[in-house]
Amino acid sequence: MKDLFERIIKDKGPLGKWAKQAEGYYVFPKLEGPISNRMTFNGKKVITWSINDYLGLANHPEVIKADAAAAAEHGMAYPMGARMMSGHTVFHEQLEQECAAFVNKEAAYLVNFGYQGMVSAIDALVTKHDVIVYDMDTHACIIDGVRLHAGKRFVYKHNDVESLEKNLQRATKMATQNNGGILVISEGVFGMRGEQGRLKEIVALKKKYNFRLLVDDAHGFGTLGKTGAGAGEEQGVQDDIDVYFATFAKSMAGIGAFFAADKDIIQYLQYNMRSQMFAKTLPMAMVKGALKRLDMLRTMPELKEKLWENTNALQSGLKENGFDIGNTNTCVTPVFLEGDIPEAMAMVHDLRENYGIFCSIVVYPVIPKGMILLRLIPTATHTLEDVSETITAFSSMREKLEGGVYKRIAATMA
Ligand SMILES: Cc1ncc(COP(=O)(O)O)c(C=O)c1O
Repeated sequence: MKDLFERIIKDKGPLGKWAKQAEGYYVFPKLEGPISNRMTFNGKKVITWSINDYLGLANHPEVIKADAAAAAEHGMAYPMGARMMSGHTVFHEQLEQECAAFVNKEAAYLVNFGYQGMVSAIDALVTKHDVIVYDMDTHACIIDGVRLHAGKRFVYKHNDVESLEKNLQRATKMATQNNGGILVISEGVFGMRGEQGRLKEIVALKKKYNFRLLVDDAHGFGTLGKTGAGAGEEQGVQDDIDVYFATFAKSMAGIGAFFAADKDIIQYLQYNMRSQMFAKTLPMAMVKGALKRLDMLRTMPELKEKLWENTNALQSGLKENGFDIGNTNTCVTPVFLEGDIPEAMAMVHDLRENYGIFCSIVVYPVIPKGMILLRLIPTATHTLEDVSETITAFSSMREKLEGGVYKRIAATMA
């Protein structure tokens, strides 16, 4: 028998093994100064393309004022306890009603964190008799929610409706045998590559198969659709999403999340979601802050317009300069390049230190070996100057990548 910590100390896990080379720079970097298009990293000003503050609310003076006023009035503790026991207030109810109205659903239920909420909602929605069918590229919170499921699950190829249909046929057989139902799970926007989930086609399958659809619209909420209600609104199928989810961590630049659905379903979640029944409620400052943000989403369409002006300029500029930005049809802007992990590290170092560009880097195993994905998130706070400076920097960086400069730098550092 071993001491449990023997393995933990020896094997730090797939990411942890890079800690020595990466910590403080590539992982756990410290972006300093007010959240904006230009922040400070490693003592230098950088254009920040890595934060999901889509609408630029994180540091908006009205938001800061509302957050501060709520914290001054209530502190950060109120209300104490879980919603069910002692942590319920009229403001939590008001926020739920406003969230539901915003995404055109009957009712909503708040959760403290999107991640935990999603895990717990999946756990609550299905029993061992039911079958889950989900996209293979979904966010970790969905994967972990599915892990809790005691019944059968099928995974379909990413955004592949044919593969979904095949799995629905298998799921239908299984659910019929078990006298259960089927839950299909997709994202509204896949946050790495920026493709919208093919909700319209998924919903069309409801004519042939009996299933309910849960959509995680973390990146679509506030950014897509005429009113900002997300990917379902954008694709004209919001009413066919049975359970809609969005987090406050992106467009709302806050913390917390919500589920929206028919009243009966929301009531079921209120009484059965363990992450909320057995945890302290969302603090009042977050709730009042979210009410303010939601009001701004409703009344300040210029924020979304600016976001899209920047997104369109960035994406068309990158394409015109020959960059591969995949199949994005959202604000999430991936740039695909070829290279290995050490090259990617040297390249990102150069971008940050010499060009003043800070973006996220994604490598194998998240994407195929030999590929590098630089992920850019435009926001309403960016300027067209930020966009053109970034495209010029990227062109120069690509020349170096193709000329083997980063390979040589990486070799000297090995
Ligand atoms: C697609 C998706 N779902 C869920 C979450 C988790 O939300 P939260 O940050 O509120 O826990 C995230 C990340 O924030 C996300 O990108």
